[in-house]
Amino acid sequence: MKVVLIPGDGIGKEISESVRRVSEALGTGIEWDEFAAGAEYYDESGSLMQPGLVEAIEADGLALKGPTATPIGKGFRSINVQLRQRFNTYANFRPVHSRVGVKSRYDNVDLIVIRENTEDLYMGLEYKIGDDTAHGIKLITRQASERIARFAFEYAKKHGRHLVTCVHKANIMKYTDGLFLDAFNHVAADYPDIEHNSVIVDAMTMKLVTDPTQFDVIVAPNLYGDILSDLCSGLVGGLGFAPSANIGDNQVIYEAVHGSAPDIAGKDLANPSALLLALAMLLRDHDMEDKAKAIENAIDEVVRKGEHTTHDIGGNAGTKEFTDAVIAELGEVR
Ligand code: NAI
Repeated sequence: MKVVLIPGDGIGKEISESVRRVSEALGTGIEWDEFAAGAEYYDESGSLMQPGLVEAIEADGLALKGPTATPIGKGFRSINVQLRQRFNTYANFRPVHSRVGVKSRYDNVDLIVIRENTEDLYMGLEYKIGDDTAHGIKLITRQASERIARFAFEYAKKHGRHLVTCVHKANIMKYTDGLFLDAFNHVAADYPDIEHNSVIVDAMTMKLVTDPTQFDVIVAPNLYGDILSDLCSGLVGGLGFAPSANIGDNQVIYEAVHGSAPDIAGKDLANPSALLLALAMLLRDHDMEDKAKAIENAIDEVVRKGEHTTHDIGGNAGTKEFTDAVIAELGEVR
Protein backbone atom coordinates (compact mmCIF):
# COMPACT_ATOMS: atom_id res chain seq x y z
CA MET A 1 0.00 0.00 0.00
CA LYS A 2 1.40 3.40 -0.99
CA VAL A 3 0.81 6.30 1.41
CA VAL A 4 1.98 9.88 0.91
CA LEU A 5 4.01 11.07 3.92
CA ILE A 6 4.30 14.81 4.55
CA PRO A 7 6.66 15.32 7.50
CA GLY A 8 5.86 19.06 7.58
CA ASP A 9 7.38 21.67 9.89
CA GLY A 10 8.84 21.88 13.39
CA ILE A 11 8.49 18.56 15.25
CA GLY A 12 7.00 17.03 12.08
CA LYS A 13 10.25 15.39 10.96
CA GLU A 14 10.88 13.83 14.37
CA ILE A 15 7.39 12.39 14.79
CA SER A 16 7.29 11.21 11.15
CA GLU A 17 10.50 9.29 11.72
CA SER A 18 8.80 7.63 14.67
CA VAL A 19 5.89 6.65 12.41
CA ARG A 20 8.22 5.18 9.80
CA ARG A 21 10.02 3.11 12.43
CA VAL A 22 6.84 1.77 14.04
CA SER A 23 5.31 0.98 10.65
CA GLU A 24 8.47 -0.89 9.65
CA ALA A 25 8.61 -2.79 12.95
CA LEU A 26 4.96 -3.83 12.55
CA GLY A 27 5.46 -4.98 8.98
CA THR A 28 2.53 -2.94 7.67
CA GLY A 29 3.84 -3.12 4.11
CA ILE A 30 3.29 0.62 3.71
CA GLU A 31 5.51 2.18 1.07
CA TRP A 32 5.95 5.85 1.98
CA ASP A 33 5.81 8.41 -0.80
CA GLU A 34 7.51 11.36 0.94
CA PHE A 35 6.94 15.02 0.00
CA ALA A 36 7.98 18.29 1.62
CA ALA A 37 5.42 20.98 2.38
CA GLY A 38 5.08 23.84 4.83
CA ALA A 39 6.72 27.05 6.00
CA GLU A 40 10.25 25.60 6.13
CA TYR A 41 9.97 24.30 2.57
CA TYR A 42 8.58 27.70 1.54
CA ASP A 43 11.62 29.46 3.04
CA GLU A 44 13.95 27.13 1.09
CA SER A 45 12.14 26.99 -2.22
CA GLY A 46 9.58 29.79 -2.44
CA SER A 47 6.82 27.17 -2.88
CA LEU A 48 4.45 25.82 -0.27
CA MET A 49 4.50 22.24 -1.50
CA GLN A 50 6.99 20.07 -3.35
CA PRO A 51 5.89 19.58 -6.96
CA GLY A 52 4.02 16.30 -7.41
CA LEU A 53 2.48 16.24 -3.92
CA VAL A 54 -1.08 16.93 -5.02
CA GLU A 55 -0.81 14.36 -7.85
CA ALA A 56 0.59 11.75 -5.44
CA ILE A 57 -2.32 12.19 -3.00
CA GLU A 58 -4.70 12.02 -5.94
CA ALA A 59 -3.11 8.76 -7.10
CA ASP A 60 -2.47 7.03 -3.74
CA GLY A 61 -5.71 8.22 -2.14
CA LEU A 62 -4.03 8.22 1.27
CA ALA A 63 -1.73 10.61 3.09
CA LEU A 64 -0.27 10.84 6.58
CA LYS A 65 0.53 14.44 7.31
CA GLY A 66 2.76 15.98 9.95
CA PRO A 67 1.96 19.50 11.16
CA THR A 68 2.58 22.42 8.84
CA ALA A 69 3.06 25.91 10.23
CA THR A 70 0.93 28.82 9.08
CA PRO A 71 2.68 32.12 9.84
CA ILE A 72 0.09 34.56 11.20
CA GLY A 73 -0.80 37.58 9.08
CA LYS A 74 1.64 36.98 6.17
CA GLY A 75 -0.91 36.23 3.48
CA PHE A 76 0.30 32.59 3.64
CA ARG A 77 -2.63 30.25 2.99
CA SER A 78 -2.77 27.28 5.32
CA ILE A 79 -1.67 24.06 3.60
CA ASN A 80 -4.25 22.16 5.61
CA VAL A 81 -7.05 24.34 4.31
CA GLN A 82 -5.71 24.09 0.75
CA LEU A 83 -5.48 20.29 0.85
CA ARG A 84 -8.93 19.98 2.43
CA GLN A 85 -10.44 22.16 -0.26
CA ARG A 86 -8.48 20.54 -3.11
CA PHE A 87 -9.53 17.00 -2.17
CA ASN A 88 -12.90 17.96 -0.76
CA THR A 89 -12.12 16.10 2.47
CA TYR A 90 -15.38 17.30 3.92
CA ALA A 91 -15.35 15.39 7.19
CA ASN A 92 -12.76 16.01 9.88
CA PHE A 93 -13.00 13.02 12.17
CA ARG A 94 -11.50 13.18 15.64
CA PRO A 95 -11.89 10.32 18.09
CA VAL A 96 -11.34 11.33 21.73
CA HIS A 97 -10.67 8.46 24.12
CA SER A 98 -9.19 8.42 27.61
CA ARG A 99 -5.88 6.60 27.52
CA VAL A 100 -4.78 4.28 30.27
CA GLY A 101 -2.08 5.91 32.34
CA VAL A 102 -2.38 9.43 30.92
CA LYS A 103 -3.24 11.73 33.80
CA SER A 104 -6.29 13.83 32.98
CA ARG A 105 -9.45 15.11 34.57
CA TYR A 106 -11.53 12.16 33.33
CA ASP A 107 -10.71 8.51 32.73
CA ASN A 108 -13.89 7.51 30.90
CA VAL A 109 -14.13 9.82 27.86
CA ASP A 110 -15.24 8.19 24.63
CA LEU A 111 -16.31 10.84 22.12
CA ILE A 112 -16.25 11.30 18.39
CA VAL A 113 -16.01 14.90 17.13
CA ILE A 114 -16.99 15.33 13.48
CA ARG A 115 -16.28 18.73 12.02
CA GLU A 116 -17.49 20.07 8.67
CA ASN A 117 -14.22 20.73 6.91
CA THR A 118 -14.91 22.77 3.79
CA GLU A 119 -17.07 25.78 4.63
CA ASP A 120 -17.83 28.29 7.36
CA LEU A 121 -15.38 31.04 8.25
CA TYR A 122 -12.43 28.88 7.12
CA MET A 123 -12.99 29.34 3.40
CA GLY A 124 -10.54 32.23 3.35
CA LEU A 125 -13.17 34.66 2.09
CA GLU A 126 -11.72 37.65 3.91
CA TYR A 127 -11.24 41.18 2.66
CA LYS A 128 -9.68 44.35 3.98
CA ILE A 129 -11.83 47.44 3.71
CA GLY A 130 -9.23 50.12 4.23
CA ASP A 131 -6.67 49.91 7.04
CA ASP A 132 -9.01 49.60 9.98
CA THR A 133 -11.82 47.36 8.85
CA ALA A 134 -11.88 43.78 7.61
CA HIS A 135 -14.71 41.63 6.39
CA GLY A 136 -14.95 37.82 6.55
CA ILE A 137 -17.67 35.66 5.03
CA LYS A 138 -19.24 32.72 6.82
CA LEU A 139 -20.54 30.42 4.11
CA ILE A 140 -22.89 27.55 5.00
CA THR A 141 -24.74 25.47 2.41
CA ARG A 142 -27.51 22.93 2.87
CA GLN A 143 -25.63 20.43 0.72
CA ALA A 144 -22.46 20.45 2.87
CA SER A 145 -24.44 20.60 6.12
CA GLU A 146 -26.60 17.60 5.19
CA ARG A 147 -23.53 15.72 3.97
CA ILE A 148 -21.70 16.11 7.29
CA ALA A 149 -24.83 15.31 9.32
CA ARG A 150 -25.36 12.15 7.28
CA PHE A 151 -21.70 11.21 7.77
CA ALA A 152 -22.20 11.53 11.56
CA PHE A 153 -25.41 9.46 11.63
CA GLU A 154 -23.95 6.80 9.33
CA TYR A 155 -20.91 6.56 11.60
CA ALA A 156 -23.19 6.26 14.65
CA LYS A 157 -25.26 3.56 12.95
CA LYS A 158 -22.25 1.53 11.87
CA HIS A 159 -20.50 1.73 15.22
CA GLY A 160 -23.45 1.33 17.58
CA ARG A 161 -23.34 4.89 18.90
CA HIS A 162 -26.60 6.05 20.49
CA LEU A 163 -26.58 9.87 20.36
CA VAL A 164 -25.60 12.50 17.79
CA THR A 165 -25.35 16.11 19.02
CA CYS A 166 -25.35 19.12 16.70
CA VAL A 167 -23.40 22.16 17.93
CA HIS A 168 -24.40 25.58 16.63
CA LYS A 169 -25.14 29.21 17.47
CA ALA A 170 -28.40 29.46 15.56
CA ASN A 171 -29.97 31.72 18.17
CA ILE A 172 -27.66 34.52 16.97
CA MET A 173 -26.60 33.41 13.46
CA LYS A 174 -30.08 32.60 12.33
CA TYR A 175 -29.37 32.12 8.64
CA THR A 176 -25.98 30.38 8.63
CA ASP A 177 -26.05 28.27 11.78
CA GLY A 178 -29.84 28.13 11.44
CA LEU A 179 -29.35 26.38 8.11
CA PHE A 180 -26.75 23.99 9.58
CA LEU A 181 -29.18 23.04 12.37
CA ASP A 182 -32.12 22.70 10.01
CA ALA A 183 -30.12 20.40 7.71
CA PHE A 184 -29.08 18.33 10.74
CA ASN A 185 -32.68 17.91 11.92
CA HIS A 186 -33.76 17.02 8.40
CA VAL A 187 -31.14 14.23 8.16
CA ALA A 188 -31.87 13.04 11.73
CA ALA A 189 -35.40 12.13 10.63
CA ASP A 190 -33.86 9.35 8.49
CA TYR A 191 -32.32 7.74 11.58
CA PRO A 192 -35.18 7.15 14.03
CA ASP A 193 -33.16 4.58 16.02
CA ILE A 194 -30.43 7.07 16.92
CA GLU A 195 -31.14 9.81 19.44
CA HIS A 196 -30.22 13.33 18.48
CA ASN A 197 -30.12 16.73 20.14
CA SER A 198 -28.57 20.15 19.64
CA VAL A 199 -26.57 22.39 21.97
CA ILE A 200 -25.49 26.01 21.56
CA VAL A 201 -21.72 26.20 21.25
CA ASP A 202 -20.98 28.32 24.34
CA ALA A 203 -23.06 26.04 26.56
CA MET A 204 -21.37 23.08 24.89
CA THR A 205 -17.92 24.14 26.11
CA MET A 206 -19.21 24.26 29.68
CA LYS A 207 -21.03 20.94 29.38
CA LEU A 208 -18.00 19.18 27.88
CA VAL A 209 -15.74 20.42 30.64
CA THR A 210 -18.15 19.49 33.43
CA ASP A 211 -19.34 16.11 32.10
CA PRO A 212 -18.11 14.85 28.72
CA THR A 213 -19.77 11.47 29.25
CA GLN A 214 -23.18 12.95 28.42
CA PHE A 215 -22.14 13.13 24.74
CA ASP A 216 -21.35 10.48 22.17
CA VAL A 217 -20.98 11.73 18.56
CA ILE A 218 -20.69 15.50 18.11
CA VAL A 219 -21.13 17.23 14.76
CA ALA A 220 -20.29 20.89 14.23
CA PRO A 221 -19.53 23.51 11.59
CA ASN A 222 -15.85 24.11 10.84
CA LEU A 223 -14.89 26.78 13.42
CA TYR A 224 -16.75 25.37 16.42
CA GLY A 225 -15.57 21.87 15.51
CA ASP A 226 -11.96 23.04 15.44
CA ILE A 227 -12.18 24.64 18.86
CA LEU A 228 -14.23 21.89 20.49
CA SER A 229 -11.98 19.11 19.28
CA ASP A 230 -8.93 20.75 20.87
CA LEU A 231 -10.95 21.23 24.05
CA CYS A 232 -11.84 17.52 23.94
CA SER A 233 -8.19 16.54 23.48
CA GLY A 234 -7.53 18.44 26.70
CA LEU A 235 -10.01 16.15 28.45
CA VAL A 236 -7.86 13.11 27.69
CA GLY A 237 -4.32 14.32 28.34
CA GLY A 238 -3.68 16.95 25.70
CA LEU A 239 -2.69 17.38 22.09
CA GLY A 240 0.06 14.77 22.29
CA PHE A 241 -2.57 12.00 22.07
CA ALA A 242 -5.09 13.40 19.57
CA PRO A 243 -5.23 11.95 16.02
CA SER A 244 -7.59 12.94 13.23
CA ALA A 245 -8.61 12.09 9.69
CA ASN A 246 -9.75 14.40 6.90
CA ILE A 247 -12.12 12.23 4.91
CA GLY A 248 -13.35 12.77 1.37
CA ASP A 249 -15.00 10.45 -1.13
CA ASN A 250 -11.71 9.52 -2.78
CA GLN A 251 -8.91 10.72 -0.48
CA VAL A 252 -8.21 10.52 3.24
CA ILE A 253 -5.52 12.61 4.93
CA TYR A 254 -4.62 11.40 8.41
CA GLU A 255 -2.83 13.72 10.80
CA ALA A 256 -2.16 14.73 14.39
CA VAL A 257 -4.45 17.42 15.78
CA HIS A 258 -1.50 19.39 17.17
CA GLY A 259 0.67 21.89 15.34
CA SER A 260 4.39 22.12 14.59
CA ALA A 261 5.31 22.98 18.22
CA PRO A 262 8.14 25.39 17.31
CA ASP A 263 9.05 25.77 21.00
CA ILE A 264 10.30 22.17 21.19
CA ALA A 265 11.21 21.48 17.55
CA GLY A 266 14.52 19.75 16.81
CA LYS A 267 15.14 18.97 20.50
CA ASP A 268 13.96 15.35 20.56
CA LEU A 269 11.21 16.37 23.00
CA ALA A 270 8.03 15.75 20.98
CA ASN A 271 5.50 13.11 21.88
CA PRO A 272 4.89 11.15 18.65
CA SER A 273 1.74 9.43 19.97
CA ALA A 274 -0.82 11.53 18.08
CA LEU A 275 0.75 10.78 14.68
CA LEU A 276 1.24 7.14 15.69
CA LEU A 277 -2.46 6.99 16.63
CA ALA A 278 -3.26 8.54 13.23
CA LEU A 279 -1.26 5.68 11.67
CA ALA A 280 -3.37 3.27 13.77
CA MET A 281 -6.55 4.87 12.35
CA LEU A 282 -5.21 4.41 8.82
CA LEU A 283 -4.40 0.74 9.48
CA ARG A 284 -7.82 0.13 11.05
CA ASP A 285 -9.51 1.65 8.01
CA HIS A 286 -7.55 -0.79 5.82
CA ASP A 287 -8.35 -4.06 7.54
CA MET A 288 -5.31 -4.10 9.80
CA GLU A 289 -7.19 -3.96 13.10
CA ASP A 290 -4.60 -6.17 14.81
CA LYS A 291 -1.77 -3.80 13.91
CA ALA A 292 -3.85 -0.74 14.85
CA LYS A 293 -4.59 -2.27 18.26
CA ALA A 294 -0.92 -3.18 18.67
CA ILE A 295 0.09 0.48 18.32
CA GLU A 296 -2.63 1.69 20.71
CA ASN A 297 -1.82 -0.97 23.29
CA ALA A 298 1.92 -0.35 23.01
CA ILE A 299 1.46 3.40 23.61
CA ASP A 300 -0.82 2.66 26.59
CA GLU A 301 1.73 0.23 28.03
CA VAL A 302 4.64 2.66 27.69
CA VAL A 303 2.60 5.44 29.29
CA ARG A 304 1.30 3.16 32.05
CA LYS A 305 4.80 1.96 32.95
CA GLY A 306 5.96 5.59 32.96
CA GLU A 307 9.69 4.85 32.45
CA HIS A 308 10.04 6.21 28.91
CA THR A 309 7.42 8.94 28.62
CA THR A 310 7.89 12.36 27.05
CA HIS A 311 8.01 15.77 28.74
CA ASP A 312 4.45 16.82 27.89
CA ILE A 313 3.16 14.14 30.28
CA GLY A 314 5.80 14.63 32.94
CA GLY A 315 8.47 12.17 31.73
CA ASN A 316 12.11 12.58 30.74
CA ALA A 317 12.35 10.53 27.57
CA GLY A 318 12.92 11.95 24.12
CA THR A 319 10.97 11.13 20.96
CA LYS A 320 13.48 8.40 20.00
CA GLU A 321 13.51 6.73 23.41
CA PHE A 322 9.70 6.77 23.57
CA THR A 323 9.55 5.25 20.07
CA ASP A 324 12.04 2.51 21.03
CA ALA A 325 9.84 1.69 24.03
CA VAL A 326 6.68 1.58 21.86
CA ILE A 327 8.41 -0.76 19.38
CA ALA A 328 9.51 -3.00 22.24
CA GLU A 329 5.85 -3.27 23.36
CA LEU A 330 4.38 -4.07 19.94
CA GLY A 331 4.22 -7.76 20.82
CA GLU A 332 3.43 -10.77 18.69
CA VAL A 333 1.49 -8.99 15.98
CA ARG A 334 4.83 -8.14 14.38
P1 NAI B 1 0.98 23.55 18.71
O1 NAI B 1 -0.01 22.43 18.74
O2 NAI B 1 2.09 23.43 17.74
O3 NAI B 1 1.62 23.72 20.17
C1 NAI B 1 0.86 24.02 21.34
C2 NAI B 1 1.62 23.55 22.58
O4 NAI B 1 1.54 22.12 22.64
C3 NAI B 1 3.10 23.89 22.54
O5 NAI B 1 3.54 24.18 23.85
C4 NAI B 1 3.76 22.61 22.05
O6 NAI B 1 5.09 22.45 22.49
C5 NAI B 1 2.84 21.55 22.63
N1 NAI B 1 2.79 20.35 21.76
C6 NAI B 1 2.13 20.24 20.58
N2 NAI B 1 2.32 19.03 20.06
C7 NAI B 1 3.12 18.37 20.91
C8 NAI B 1 3.67 17.05 20.92
N3 NAI B 1 3.44 16.18 19.93
N4 NAI B 1 4.47 16.70 21.96
C9 NAI B 1 4.70 17.55 22.96
N5 NAI B 1 4.20 18.82 23.03
C10 NAI B 1 3.41 19.20 22.01
O7 NAI B 1 0.16 24.89 18.46
P2 NAI B 1 0.65 26.36 18.07
O8 NAI B 1 1.90 26.69 18.83
O9 NAI B 1 -0.54 27.18 18.22
O10 NAI B 1 0.97 26.27 16.52
C11 NAI B 1 2.29 26.18 15.98
C12 NAI B 1 2.16 26.12 14.47
O11 NAI B 1 1.48 24.91 14.06
C13 NAI B 1 1.37 27.28 13.86
O12 NAI B 1 2.05 27.75 12.73
C14 NAI B 1 0.04 26.66 13.46
O13 NAI B 1 -0.53 27.29 12.35
C15 NAI B 1 0.46 25.24 13.13
N6 NAI B 1 -0.61 24.26 13.26
C16 NAI B 1 -0.67 23.26 12.32
C17 NAI B 1 -1.61 22.27 12.42
C18 NAI B 1 -1.61 21.20 11.39
O14 NAI B 1 -0.77 21.19 10.50
N7 NAI B 1 -2.53 20.26 11.45
C19 NAI B 1 -2.60 22.23 13.51
C20 NAI B 1 -2.41 23.29 14.48
C21 NAI B 1 -1.46 24.27 14.34
